[in-house]
Amino acid sequence: MNEILATKHLSKSFGRVQAVADVSFAVRKGELLGVIGPNGAGKTSVFNLLTGVYPIDNGTISFQGQDITHMPVAGRSTMGLGRTFQIPRPFTGMTVYENLLVAATFAGGRKERECRDELSEILKLTHLWNYRNNFARSLPLLDRKRLELARGLATDPQLLLLDEIAGGLTEAEAAEVFNLIKAIQHRGVTIVWIEHIMSMMEATDRLLALAQGNSIICDTPKVVLNDPQVLEFYLGWSKKHEQ
Ligand SMILES: Nc1ncnc2c1ncn2[C@@H]1O[C@H](COP(=O)(O)OP(=O)(O)O)[C@@H](O)[C@H]1O
Ligand SMILES: [Mg+2]
Repeated sequence: MNEILATKHLSKSFGRVQAVADVSFAVRKGELLGVIGPNGAGKTSVFNLLTGVYPIDNGTISFQGQDITHMPVAGRSTMGLGRTFQIPRPFTGMTVYENLLVAATFAGGRKERECRDELSEILKLTHLWNYRNNFARSLPLLDRKRLELARGLATDPQLLLLDEIAGGLTEAEAAEVFNLIKAIQHRGVTIVWIEHIMSMMEATDRLLALAQGNSIICDTPKVVLNDPQVLEFYLGWSKKHEQ
């Protein structure tokens, strides 16, 4: 099966605000799909619908060939749908290792003895091995981002949703995060990544552009970043921010 996830005509309103109006797209197994769109375009809301944080108003979601439109959060997570948050929220009073353990046992539904070796491997991959017994609150920002990725991986995902994981980092730090994301992809994890940093979005396999709650286009970065409608929305966005 080539498509790991597909959404058709997703919509969601919060009171009078239509956060998601009509979003349809498919994610191919193994790809790194970037998601771009101005602030308020509905990007985070789409992730919340995919993971089941909010019930959808209309539309369908299928994951690994199964209709998960009305499946509770825990079921989706056990099926292999993992995520990171725009604002990293590790359990700051726990150590780095304990954070991974919580992710693996609660979200992944596994026992400690079943995942201990894998967690060690994740700690090494994310360069957190030396800090495994440190409290999460003591970590600098780059390491907290790494922890966020490590926690996502600890749930043993087939598909990982990343929400602005590189935000707030220096260029060099963001490049490290990018390399780590590529390494995660090479482990066979499909990735959908919301980010504003264009140099990184240009380097994804495909790009999905959202604007005003709608999916505008999903194609190669080159095609998407030259699309007249996408340029218009971004130009409008950057002008507003310059005022
Ligand atoms: N839980 C919520 N309650 C009310 N409004 C929300 C909620 N989540 C998102 N919104 C609104 O939906 C719109 C889209 O938000 P969001 O999905 O966060 O956009 P993005 O991530 O693209 O910046 C915004 O107008 C936002 O204020
Ligand atoms: Mg957002």
